Amino acid sequence: MSMVQSYRHHQLKKGEHQHAGEDDMLSLMCAANSGYFKRSRPKLFSLLILSLLSCCLILGSHLFCSSSALSLLYSFGGESDELAANVKAKAFLCSSISNGTICCDRRSIRSDVCVMKGDVRTSSASSSVFLYTSKSTHAVIKNVSSLADKNEVLRHEKVKPYTRKWETSVMDTIDELDLIVKTEKNPNNHHCDVTHDVPAVFFSTGGYTGNVYHEFNDGLLPLFITSQHFKKKVVFVILEYHDWWIMKYGDILSHLSDYPAIDFSGDKRTHCFPEAIVGLRIHDELTVDPSLMHGNKTIVDFRNVLDLAYLPRVKSLLEESGAQEKLNQKAHSSSSDIRGEVHDATLKRPKLVILSRNGSRAITNEDLLVKMAEEIGFQVEVLRPERTTELARIYGALNSSEVMIGVHGAAMTHFLFMRPGSVFIQVIPLGTEWAADAYYGEPARKLGLKYIGYQILPRESSLYDKYDRNDPVLRDPQSVSDKGWQYTKSIYLDNQNVRINLRRFQKRLLRAYIYTIAKKNRRSHLQSQ
Ligand SMILES: *[C@@H]1O[C@H](CO)[C@@H](O)[C@H](O)[C@H]1NC(C)=O
Ligand SMILES: *[C@@H]1O[C@H](CO)[C@@H](O)[C@H](O)[C@H]1NC(C)=O
Ligand SMILES: *[C@@H]1O[C@H](CO)[C@@H](O)[C@H](O)[C@H]1NC(C)=O
Ligand SMILES: *[C@@H]1O[C@H](CO)[C@@H](O)[C@H](O)[C@H]1NC(C)=O
Ligand SMILES: *[C@@H]1O[C@H](CO)[C@@H](O)[C@H](O)[C@H]1NC(C)=O
Repeated sequence: MSMVQSYRHHQLKKGEHQHAGEDDMLSLMCAANSGYFKRSRPKLFSLLILSLLSCCLILGSHLFCSSSALSLLYSFGGESDELAANVKAKAFLCSSISNGTICCDRRSIRSDVCVMKGDVRTSSASSSVFLYTSKSTHAVIKNVSSLADKNEVLRHEKVKPYTRKWETSVMDTIDELDLIVKTEKNPNNHHCDVTHDVPAVFFSTGGYTGNVYHEFNDGLLPLFITSQHFKKKVVFVILEYHDWWIMKYGDILSHLSDYPAIDFSGDKRTHCFPEAIVGLRIHDELTVDPSLMHGNKTIVDFRNVLDLAYLPRVKSLLEESGAQEKLNQKAHSSSSDIRGEVHDATLKRPKLVILSRNGSRAITNEDLLVKMAEEIGFQVEVLRPERTTELARIYGALNSSEVMIGVHGAAMTHFLFMRPGSVFIQVIPLGTEWAADAYYGEPARKLGLKYIGYQILPRESSLYDKYDRNDPVLRDPQSVSDKGWQYTKSIYLDNQNVRINLRRFQKRLLRAYIYTIAKKNRRSHLQSQ
């Protein structure tokens, strides 16, 4: 189900949407109820104004919008380059605010993020997070509050802490948090059950969580982007908390936070924090934009976190399989010498992993593909990730391989497990060209992989047997996709297999092989110097 949703963008005409990589004002917008999205330039000016409105600080030294934000409005000359530069300059909006203030950044089409600083307290019963303003600024507050609200609620913001803001259908399923700034009449009226001395980051693991693409794209990467600069001195407070998610990603979470995560609705205690960030920042598909990060962190830094996280488990898996191998060798002790040599030779071959699917978008001649790859000189492993497959196992397999091959689909998210400099060949079925590049091809390049998109020919598609050769389904997939999401889904995604033209594919594989060997030689040459 969720895979489906992520996919909808590629109803778009190819020319209409250059990739959003460089320009975070390019956006994904919901096209009413037609079930698909149009990527277009949003109204830049209204976005800008919106951002200015939402970044007004109510208290502290800045009673209103910070002057730099205002000057931005005036310096805006209509040049989109200039605007893009300004947006970057404001990447850290809300990152340094003073005590007793809230700041919401609602500029992004993908997510809203609010920051509260000072006396922050959770109230799960009312789905709220309160910020009580301190006594020292009481007088100022009084003045503002008399203008704003008799109830002494100085400011009220609502946030759904999930990164698919533009996608109304899924956002409707996400819990909303009320962020309320209040004056504190009597400090004894409220108390803390648990006092934390590090910031909290609030986010939801609802929505499409359950699909590996979404778990990385909408969850883990934004979590890294939003929290890594705290250097693990941060508490995660999770809405729509799932034990299985904590289990599945525990090894990654423990490299992002030193503290146990809190189940916001399950834990009724009042948690107090010196700061709260509600919502996650997100840059683009499966990537990290260093120009928007503290310390210029990149997607490679994210991958380094994965590497640290999976190292212990990958090691123990290796030991297990090593022990198994020894047993096998004992069983065949008579020929063990020869086998040992053969084994060594096999280990020296570059490894290629095929991420295999069955059901739809399977490679129907996978066996022949494996054979060909072995003949070229690869050591081949076929991996079929299931929902329950341990990620460390997949990480271990991909981190130790030079080439990954797979048919476009959520499992391609595992390209994140490949080492930069290795090769990723994505087989692109008919009608998936745009999504294949936007979701996986482009992000893979940004990670530093050598990316090869293998766009199949109509003859390589199982649809070739079902449709007339002149049918638009084969001849012009774009026109079919343009008719609506359900066409893409039912024709191209759910009912298409691939029979690879081995001769055609061989060229790519050879290219990957030569590249890999050249890289290895270069490395050993460097080492021998
Ligand atoms: C800000 O508020 C927190 C929590 O109330 C407090 O511990 C901290 O000392 C305050 N910082 C400043 C600079 O006032
Ligand atoms: C509050 O407002 C009154 C009059 O409106 C003013 O005299 C006073 O200085 C203000 N207090 C502060 C702390 O700004
Ligand atoms: C990040 O990159 C910018 C521009 O390339 C550079 O000026 C800055 O010093 C870098 N910061 C860090 C912490 O490396
Ligand atoms: C991944 O591969 C690199 C290079 O071979 C190695 O240093 C690292 O320990 C591996 N990571 C894991 C988790 O096995
Ligand atoms: C796909 O693989 C699973 C598990 O290996 C198997 O149970 C299922 O029957 C397969 N489906 C098809 C269509 O081959």
